[in-house]
Amino acid sequence: MYNNWNDLQEECKKCEKCDLAKTRINVVFGDGNPNAEVMFIGEGPGQTEDETGKPFVGRAGQLLDKMLAGVGLSRDNIYIANIVKCRPPQNRDPLPAEQEACIEWLRNQVSLIRPKIIVFLGRISAMKLMKPDFKVTKEHGQFFEKNGVLMMGTFHPAALLRSPGNKPDAFEDFRKLRDKISEICENTEIESFEN
Ligand code: URA
Repeated sequence: MYNNWNDLQEECKKCEKCDLAKTRINVVFGDGNPNAEVMFIGEGPGQTEDETGKPFVGRAGQLLDKMLAGVGLSRDNIYIANIVKCRPPQNRDPLPAEQEACIEWLRNQVSLIRPKIIVFLGRISAMKLMKPDFKVTKEHGQFFEKNGVLMMGTFHPAALLRSPGNKPDAFEDFRKLRDKISEICENTEIESFEN
């Protein structure tokens, strides 16, 4: 466990705990505001993320930015990280052993950020850290309380690109998030928006 954000980031960038280290270009540690009250957790970096070292900067990331903007949020007032910090080859799902090898970095990030709300993007991250039997179609947008943190799972933006019919439900989840932020967060500025 690191008590200091910079030490954590420096050590994480040197990680060789699993074989994904052999094929990565960059470790994708996270992006946004480490003092945020709201944290988003995705699955793992894709090609553009691997190339740039930043999470959610490819097509899925652009959709995520749009959804954030739609409820008056931006990367300046949230923090985004992934379950695994290195790109799985061919963008396959991260293997359970890779998730296990990597999860301590994320747990350390969560313990330093101490978010009030965590949003899981997609089934993989929600199952790993919120609810092992999480079903995104049935339980998206529902808040669960765990260890004093409110948690919610929603559709992964890459899945929304494949199944755009779920976008209205996903936008509704983001509106619920916005309302929850207004209710319980003190330092998260929500820009004015049109519904
Ligand atoms: N998908 C993810 O889960 N994370 C990223 O950083 C990019 C795409």
